[in-house]
Amino acid sequence: MTLAPAPPYGRRQRTLRRRPIIAMAVAAVALLSVQSAAAAPPAAPGTAGAAVAAAPPTLNQLAAAKGRYFASATDNPELSDTAYTATLGSEFGQITPGNSMKWDTTEPTRGQFSFARGDAVVSFAQAHGEGVRGHTLVWHSQLPGWVSALPASEVRSAMESHIAGEAGHYKGQVKAWDVVNEPFNDDGTYRTSPFYNAMGKSYVTYALQAARAADPGAKLYINDYNTDGMGAKSDAMYNLVRDLKAAGVPIDGVGFQAHLATQYGFPSQMQQNLQRFADLGVDVALTELDVRMVLPADATKLATQSTYYRQVTEACLAVSRCVGITIWDYTDKYSWVPGTFSGQGSACLWDENLQPKPVLDAVRTALGYTGTADTQAPTVPTGLAVTGTTSSSVSLSWAASTDDVGVSGYDIFRGGTQVGSSTAAAFTDSGLTPSTAYAYTVRAKDAAGNVSARTAEVTGTTAGGSTGGGSLKVQYKNNDSAPGDNQIKPGIQLVNTGSSAVGLASVKVRYWFSGESGASAYSSWCDWAVIGCGSVNQSVGTSGSGTTGADHYLEVGFSGGSLAAGASTGEMQLRFNKTDWSNFSETDDYSRGTNTAFADAPKIAVYVGSTLVWGTAP
Ligand code: G3I
Repeated sequence: MTLAPAPPYGRRQRTLRRRPIIAMAVAAVALLSVQSAAAAPPAAPGTAGAAVAAAPPTLNQLAAAKGRYFASATDNPELSDTAYTATLGSEFGQITPGNSMKWDTTEPTRGQFSFARGDAVVSFAQAHGEGVRGHTLVWHSQLPGWVSALPASEVRSAMESHIAGEAGHYKGQVKAWDVVNEPFNDDGTYRTSPFYNAMGKSYVTYALQAARAADPGAKLYINDYNTDGMGAKSDAMYNLVRDLKAAGVPIDGVGFQAHLATQYGFPSQMQQNLQRFADLGVDVALTELDVRMVLPADATKLATQSTYYRQVTEACLAVSRCVGITIWDYTDKYSWVPGTFSGQGSACLWDENLQPKPVLDAVRTALGYTGTADTQAPTVPTGLAVTGTTSSSVSLSWAASTDDVGVSGYDIFRGGTQVGSSTAAAFTDSGLTPSTAYAYTVRAKDAAGNVSARTAEVTGTTAGGSTGGGSLKVQYKNNDSAPGDNQIKPGIQLVNTGSSAVGLASVKVRYWFSGESGASAYSSWCDWAVIGCGSVNQSVGTSGSGTTGADHYLEVGFSGGSLAAGASTGEMQLRFNKTDWSNFSETDDYSRGTNTAFADAPKIAVYVGSTLVWGTAP
């Protein structure tokens, strides 16, 4: 069969056809049957160990299982449609702004950039854990008039400034750029444009080099339509990419738009075509896939559409350097097709009411979905244990679960409430109250939403007991051989005698002494500490105690960190004096000892917050 050549995607059809009501009815019936097959109850939270019927994985999950992404185009007006964004934000791994990064939007006036619309798409992607494909830096269309009006001598610098401005603005935020879009005519000759007219084909090189300089981390693509199969236009693209690679020009990938139509046949040898580009050492991607048809849709056209989408997907999966597929918006509600080709449409995977179409199942199947729901829950995690505590946190670990498809993560519960999720077999629950026991359970889950039973409970008790007998103690030694001079020099170390770590941020140690006569202001010092004096802070305060030798105290605190079970801070050599350097008489000081080796010091106190956990205060 001889196929009519595909027209440029932009050629408008002359005849305007209305969509008959009967076609809508056929489509609606088809949709209902798909919905009932695809719709499944979501996994019930806390359903212990049950086989839970689950919705199909998302397109991106299916593609990711094959090492690819599955993406959609979008546009700013659509982002306020919450029914639309629910799927846009969940089904895809990446999005492409259909218009908002084009030159007429981003630099409508020379040197005046406007990124608000593109930024909105990037923000949406980031908020939904999705990547962004930048589209497009250098294109003959949607080009502001001032570029076309430039004298040839100024076009290169204007192009390079545009690329520097835009790709620089989005540096690190787009995974790939369609640097040059649609450089060829259908016969494989270069398309005339302000860029080609001014620089010849070298504009492609200059553009790629400018893009690399602006964002060295982004993959740089040339993108075109009607290059999806073998033919004169794809030969021209092939020769260009071959020459660019040979010349060392930065080119990472080739985008194949794949705007297909059921009435024009499937592109010739798509897989082989993608493969020959990949063999040049570049990535390939399907960047704007849709399959339109002459309306009304009927079962035959819809079946052909499903076949085309399946064949494109299979072609990508068959080429290891095919990195992913982008559909040119996921719903007929926002498809560009009816506005460009009168009487054509129904090009997308979801219909105008945002309902899945039969073709969606075809794509899922092509991506490896068997249609058999994954109903097997992962095994219950074993070995759940408390691995550490501080006064405000409990750390847990457990042995990884197994699953027939794959464990996607774990849910952690404190009491009956889920307090977090983790993809690793460990979790730290923070923001807790000191000296409090917390009970934890964990369950495993898979990507289909199946969950295991929860583990048996384990209990972790935060540090910082209020009983006065907590797990911290102080040891002291006297570093001061002159009890009547103008400085006091206690050596102090803090020891954790408990069985779990203790956070130090809220720990204070107090050493009481008498200020005698003289100045009431003090200077205090950490001369040396095993943990580093930078981790230690100290100051002198008035105690208000009437006990002999205890009207002041030196208070020692810590900048943070934690003291492991059984560990000691090691020595902290402290020293303080009155600001007038008048003498002390230390012998009757409340906390002083005469021992010159470390020994427990029950008259030096340790507080966690305001709770005394060691020693006796005067
Ligand atoms: O923003 C105006 C709006 O103010 C005005 O009321 C309305 C009236 O028609 O037009 C709006 O602009 C439209 C714009 O999309 C934003 O919706 C333009 O008319 C319309 O021509 C433009 O179409 C875009 C087309 O590129 C232009 O070439 C499509 O949305 C966009 O999906 C399409 O994308 C291209 C790729 O960039 C390159 N490959 C082919 C693909 C499909 O044409």
